[in-house]
Amino acid sequence: MKFKENFAWGVATASYQIEGAYNEDGRGADIWGNYCSIKDKIFEGHTGEVACDHYHRYKEDVAMMKKMGIKAYRFSVAWARIFPEGTGKINPKGVEFYHNLIDELIANDIEPYLTIFHWDLPLSLADKGGWLNDDISKWFGEYTRLLAKEYGIKVKHFITINEPQCVIGLGLQQGIHAPGEKLSPRDVLRATHNLLRAHGEAVKELRDACQDVEIGIAPTAGVAIPVSEKEKDVEVARKRYFDLLPLDKDGYVWSVSLFLDPIILGDYPSKYYEIYKDALPNIAEEDLAMISQPLDFLGQNIYNGFEVTEDENGEYVYPKRKVGYPHTDIEWPITPEALYWGPKFLYERYHLPFYITENGLACHDVVSLDGEVHDPNRIDFYHRYLLEYSRASQEGIDIRGYFAWSLMDNFEWCEGYSRRFGLVHVDYETQKRTMKDSAFWYKKVIETNGECL
Ligand code: FCB
Repeated sequence: MKFKENFAWGVATASYQIEGAYNEDGRGADIWGNYCSIKDKIFEGHTGEVACDHYHRYKEDVAMMKKMGIKAYRFSVAWARIFPEGTGKINPKGVEFYHNLIDELIANDIEPYLTIFHWDLPLSLADKGGWLNDDISKWFGEYTRLLAKEYGIKVKHFITINEPQCVIGLGLQQGIHAPGEKLSPRDVLRATHNLLRAHGEAVKELRDACQDVEIGIAPTAGVAIPVSEKEKDVEVARKRYFDLLPLDKDGYVWSVSLFLDPIILGDYPSKYYEIYKDALPNIAEEDLAMISQPLDFLGQNIYNGFEVTEDENGEYVYPKRKVGYPHTDIEWPITPEALYWGPKFLYERYHLPFYITENGLACHDVVSLDGEVHDPNRIDFYHRYLLEYSRASQEGIDIRGYFAWSLMDNFEWCEGYSRRFGLVHVDYETQKRTMKDSAFWYKKVIETNGECL
């Protein structure tokens, strides 16, 4: 059997990328809405104000998932829809929207996986310093407490934070995502520490309020792929995957261990205290206990990887990709082995039940003359990646599910609507949804629990 019984075959989305209704029903502003209003930040000035209008069309979208045979849906809550100011006053219409969505999912036998934070930080909290304000863990706790109280009876899987690497690295270090800051190494590490504390606070609130929920997180990082399956090569790749790189290099933000070691192993890697010694945040004793409360599963968003080996001095060497290597419409390389090595390495280090919480690609999709969307490259991509994933599963890694990114084309952050990641095509002028060939193909994969691969 390629995948376990009751495997969670899913699709994923995120609030700001699909919901729209940005100024409706009492929703507060967030950093992405704000960032989109700054000239030249987003492709052709696109914004998420309307996006896929999912806020109004959620029933149609759930029906579409049902038609695709989807078993699990990973979505995120827009914090500012619930707490327009980030804390304090609750917006009942926002709370109601997610109740309606969750009820609709359950009525259609689709298991909700709720992501608490997928990048849309309320603007009023950003104005108070955002991740640099040490109170943010309390704010995140208050927000999570409300989600736990409202939805904890119906939702059994919670994911605290999506891709902390991007929140910190792209948003606060490189300044190419909202809020667009280029902080000093000291502030980057402080924001990182606060984010980890916020994660811990959320876990605590969920455990306090709910009996039987499973809690995880969904980080990311390019996977280090060995150049051969010889033990020595595998160990080099493993070392690189969990290594910490200097803060002054872009590489740092994609670190696995900077985020997951404190969360799962109870402390930052020892190298953290050496190489960042001039920029360390204040780490209170109780922080690490708060950060490392037990999780039930580990999610990981994996899109691709890179080969790595080392020279005779133990320095990493990155073999060049072959000439004309396959890549997607967003230029990301196609490296199916990432879905074998990533889960394997993560499981061997952290020993938690595992989900791919995002995987997918952007293609040049068009509605053809016959009215359909033919996307053989997407089918081929998913097929190859899922075969590698099934190898990991068959080798005994405790793999529980897989979420394709994404249910439908949507607002791809700085790329606006120019990149299509969906299994379903969206015409943004009419909001017409068209299932792509890959959606029909995925349906077959789900029906056979992956045996058709
Ligand atoms: C991930 C994000 C997701 C989407 C995909 C393509 O980094 O989590 O929102 O943009 O990439």
